Amino acid sequence: MFRTIDAFDVKGKRVLVRADLNVPSKDGKVTDSTRIDRSAATLKELAERGAKVIVLTHFGRPKGREDKYSQKLLVEPLAKAVGKAVAWADDCIGAVAEAVIAKMKDGDVALLENVRFHPEEEKNDPAFAQALAALGDVYVNDAFSTAHRAHASTEGLAHLLPAAAGRLMQAELDALAKALGTPEKPVAAVVGGAKVSTKLELLGNLVGRVDYLIIGGGMANTFLFAQGKNVGKSLCEKDMADTARAILEKAKAAHCHIVLPVDAVVAAEFAENAANEVVSIDAVPADKMILDAGPASAEAIIDRLGGCKTLVWNGPLGAFEINPFDAATNAVARAAAERTKQGKLLTVAGGGDTVAALAKAGVDEAFSYISTAGGAFLEWLEGKTLPGVAALEIKSGGGCGCGHSH
Ligand code: 3PG
Ligand code: MG
Repeated sequence: MFRTIDAFDVKGKRVLVRADLNVPSKDGKVTDSTRIDRSAATLKELAERGAKVIVLTHFGRPKGREDKYSQKLLVEPLAKAVGKAVAWADDCIGAVAEAVIAKMKDGDVALLENVRFHPEEEKNDPAFAQALAALGDVYVNDAFSTAHRAHASTEGLAHLLPAAAGRLMQAELDALAKALGTPEKPVAAVVGGAKVSTKLELLGNLVGRVDYLIIGGGMANTFLFAQGKNVGKSLCEKDMADTARAILEKAKAAHCHIVLPVDAVVAAEFAENAANEVVSIDAVPADKMILDAGPASAEAIIDRLGGCKTLVWNGPLGAFEINPFDAATNAVARAAAERTKQGKLLTVAGGGDTVAALAKAGVDEAFSYISTAGGAFLEWLEGKTLPGVAALEIKSGGGCGCGHSH
């Protein structure tokens, strides 16, 4: 149970909003403003309701104050996103921040400098959290994508001020609850990416929760190898074969159907437009590597999805970043998007690579929900409690049903 910003009368109040404006940039310019745009709804609403909106965020991983991680470059894009001027404070605590906030009128928005310029932020230092709390009357956490960090601005603050989830946090949590908490069944999950070793906990949690676990990308090779198939020169974690077999066993016991590729697109090298051919999964040449699931595999996955009501997606099915090895990812993503448009499938996706792959397939608009989170999305799918989310929880018994302990 979460308090949302509906719970507060914010007029005339100083509202500290922890957003995640940690966006990619190049030469001092923001290259993808998705997180800024998706954070704007909460900021705009609070400003319209007469709050003094004070934005806290981090940018990169600075070691103390480092100019190249200054957030000043975010002022203009943020002003554009919220449709009004944004004041700037050169520090997120103390006299500098106080002076900027003292000048704010109801409905104004201010951005404070990188919270990670103070090493105390990442240590969740109580005195630093207190210094942040001194700047506001109310705390709103809208940073789901940083909620896996127990930092002062993401966790500590929630215990010091009246706290609520912002609209983006709310949307992320709602989407995940629909996808994994109380989903409409049957549920399918697509899990791809290079390595099984980075997704063990994810697979372990999902086999107990979904009806179909569709495995793609480099990690599928490890499963195929574990089943005795020859994967040639493919990326494969041979030392994880026992683990892969244990996951297959666990899935069987849980009546979770694991879907692995039945054919593959193979090439001699990992390169754009490398000469390639489609082979049966039982006939991968010893000197070739699997770079994508084959067309029969994509067809089989699309067939499966035809009977499903819910789909969670994390990780591409092939080396989508190089052409033409994005074909299986594109085909499955487009079929899922089509069923979503028809109202037959709820589709929730997240993770850095995943979002890039879905954008490349041109379906990011059509999915029901695309998370702004990478690491936090993964940890949620693993069934872990995210400290930033747990700190917002109103203790009232009952669980979210996602396998989380809170
Ligand atoms: C992210 O982009 O992963 C979040 O903003 C969290 O940043 P971090 O991984 O540096 O903690
Ligand atoms: Mg991260």
